[in-house]
Amino acid sequence: MPPGGRPVPGGAGIPLRGKKVSPQRDVERDRPIARLITPEPDCLPRMSPEAPFVVASASMPEVLYRRLGREGAYRLPEIDRSEVIDGAYRLRSGALVLEEGRQELLGWPLGVLEKETAVQLTLFDRGGVIYGAFFGERLVGFMSLDSRPVCGMHDRLLLDTLHVDCNFRGRGIGCKLLEHARSIAREMGASSLYVSSKPTRRTVEFYLHRGFTVADEYDPEQLEHYPEDIPMVLAL
Ligand SMILES: CC(C)(COP(=O)(O)OP(=O)(O)OC[C@H]1O[C@@H](n2cnc3c(N)ncnc32)[C@H](O)[C@@H]1OP(=O)(O)O)[C@@H](O)C(=O)NCCC(=O)NCCS
Repeated sequence: MPPGGRPVPGGAGIPLRGKKVSPQRDVERDRPIARLITPEPDCLPRMSPEAPFVVASASMPEVLYRRLGREGAYRLPEIDRSEVIDGAYRLRSGALVLEEGRQELLGWPLGVLEKETAVQLTLFDRGGVIYGAFFGERLVGFMSLDSRPVCGMHDRLLLDTLHVDCNFRGRGIGCKLLEHARSIAREMGASSLYVSSKPTRRTVEFYLHRGFTVADEYDPEQLEHYPEDIPMVLAL
C-alpha cells in the first residue's frame, strides 16, 4: 500500500498523477523495461478522474519522516509552494465565511522565504522542532513546532509551519506531519496546539477535518504578521 493508503493498480509506490506513458520496448528481450513517471502537480490543471494512474515501479521509495537539525531551517525553499487557490475563508463575527474565487500561486510569494528561514532559525534556536517528509532524497513536506507558548497559555504550543510540496499533496503527508506535531507537542507538555492557518479553503478545511476549531484567543504576534490568517486550535 502506498503512503496515504490509496492503492495503485499493479504498483507499490506512491500514486503519482500523470500522463500514462507507453512502455518502451527492450528490443533484445522484447519486454517492457520501464514506465516514465511524470508527476502532475496539483498546481497544474488536474486530469479527469477517469484518467489512468501511472504505475510506479516497485523500487520507488516510500515517504519517510525525520527530525531535522538546524540546517533544516534553510530547506523550506525545496518545497514547491505553488497552489491553485479555490476560495478562502474570512472570519465574520467569529464565524467562518467562505468567499468563492480562484487564484493561482506559482512558487513562493516574493520575500516570504527569507522571512520564513529567519523564523525557522529562531524557532530552532529556542528549542523548537523541525520535521521533514522525504520521498527518497527529496524533501516533500516540512513541519515546524515552536517551543514558545502562545495566547498567554503556558501549555498551548504553536504549529508554526506545515507545507507539502504541490506535487505530493492529497496523499496523507500533511496528516502524518500533523500527527508528529501532535505527539511531539504532547511530549513537550502541551495540552493544545495553535495554528495561524492560511485562509485558503483547502487549508482551513484540512485543519477543520482534523479536529481544529476557530480559536477564541489570538496570538498577537501571529495576528500582526498574518492578519488574513484564521487562528485555530486543537485540544491534545
Ligand atoms: C494543507 C496541507 C499542508 C495539507 O497537506 P496534504 O499532504 O495535502 O494533506 P493530506 O494529504 O494529509 O490530507 C489532505 C486531504 O487529502 C485526503 N487524503 C489523505 N490521504 C489521501 C490519499 N492517499 N489520497 C487522497 N486523498 C488523501 C485527506 O483525507 C484530506 O482530506 P480532508 O481534509 O478532506 O479530510 C497542504 O495542502 C499544503 O501544503 N498547502 C499549502 C500550504 C499551506 O497552506 N500550509 C498550511 C499553512 S498553515
